[in-house]
Amino acid sequence: MNFEKPLLFTRPPIWAVFAIAITIVTVSVINTSTIPLFPTQRVVPGDAAARDSGSVASKRSCAGFFRGGAARAVTASIREFGGVGDGRTSNTEAFRRALRALERFGDKGGSRLNVPEGRWVTGSFNLTSNFTLFLERGAVILGSQNEEEWPVIEPLLSYGRGRERLGGRHISLIHGDSLTNVVITGENGTIDGQGRMWWDLWWNRSLEHTRGHQVELKNSHNVLISNLTFINSAAGVRIKTDKG
Ligand SMILES: *[C@@H]1O[C@H](CO)[C@@H](O)[C@H](O)[C@H]1NC(C)=O
Ligand SMILES: *[C@@H]1O[C@H](CO)[C@@H](O)[C@H](O)[C@H]1NC(C)=O
Ligand SMILES: *[C@@H]1O[C@H](CO)[C@@H](O)[C@H](O)[C@H]1NC(C)=O
Ligand SMILES: *[C@@H]1O[C@H](CO)[C@@H](O)[C@H](O)[C@H]1NC(C)=O
Ligand SMILES: *[C@@H]1O[C@H](CO)[C@@H](O)[C@H](O)[C@H]1NC(C)=O
Repeated sequence: MNFEKPLLFTRPPIWAVFAIAITIVTVSVINTSTIPLFPTQRVVPGDAAARDSGSVASKRSCAGFFRGGAARAVTASIREFGGVGDGRTSNTEAFRRALRALERFGDKGGSRLNVPEGRWVTGSFNLTSNFTLFLERGAVILGSQNEEEWPVIEPLLSYGRGRERLGGRHISLIHGDSLTNVVITGENGTIDGQGRMWWDLWWNRSLEHTRGHQVELKNSHNVLISNLTFINSAAGVRIKTDKG
């Protein structure tokens, strides 16, 4: 035992890693104008889908600030795009295919992608506007452990450079830029970033690019995240209404 070792040069205690890594998001509403910044009432799980389906928002939930409008015109399952929820198969292409197909309904009443019970490994994919990602009961999205499925993109404007490494950064697992009317919700499904790999890369000094967020929506408005559990993120959840 070496009690004299300065704290900074040891690995951080496991609680610190997990305190950063575990983000449980119940409801996150971002909008710029006309609405109060903070909800005055407690969050009630479940309102996201209620709003999504067009019913009247509960006065007790900040989901009420979300302007969902009518139910999505089209609902599809990730299985229809070749998804396999076996905890091993990579669903990166399935999610990207699904989003490419569903974004066409953006101006035709919007769309919803259901993720059924199962363990769905995936790398990064981009969301689209007028869209709901819905994790059914028992659905777990698992962040891919293959770095190549987290492509490197431009650094954030607000940093002007990579955060942990100069240059580009890994894109977020669930990513969106310049979107509006986006809901990420479900029946208490889980988004597990499996971020341990990225922390290992960092601590063993082989991380080449800044870690990707678990969810990042930038320059985006009218966003609602609810009724989900977020665990083991590589770099948290980031929602921003402006560009950087
Ligand atoms: C929210 O999650 C709970 C717990 O799983 C579930 O019973 C409920 O149906 C969900 N609400 C909606 C609106 O999806
Ligand atoms: C989203 O839906 C609204 C209302 O139907 C529509 O005006 C808007 O153009 C849609 N956005 C996109 C990006 O399709
Ligand atoms: C997702 O969007 C980013 C820009 O925000 C882009 O660089 C990337 O290629 C997109 N990924 C896919 C799979 O379309
Ligand atoms: C939601 O899921 C979390 C983690 O899996 C669990 O701890 C919690 O009890 C669940 N809540 C409900 C209402 O099912
Ligand atoms: C660093 O950690 C990664 C992820 O666990 C592992 O794949 C890699 O082999 C490690 N490299 C070294 C030099 O220990």
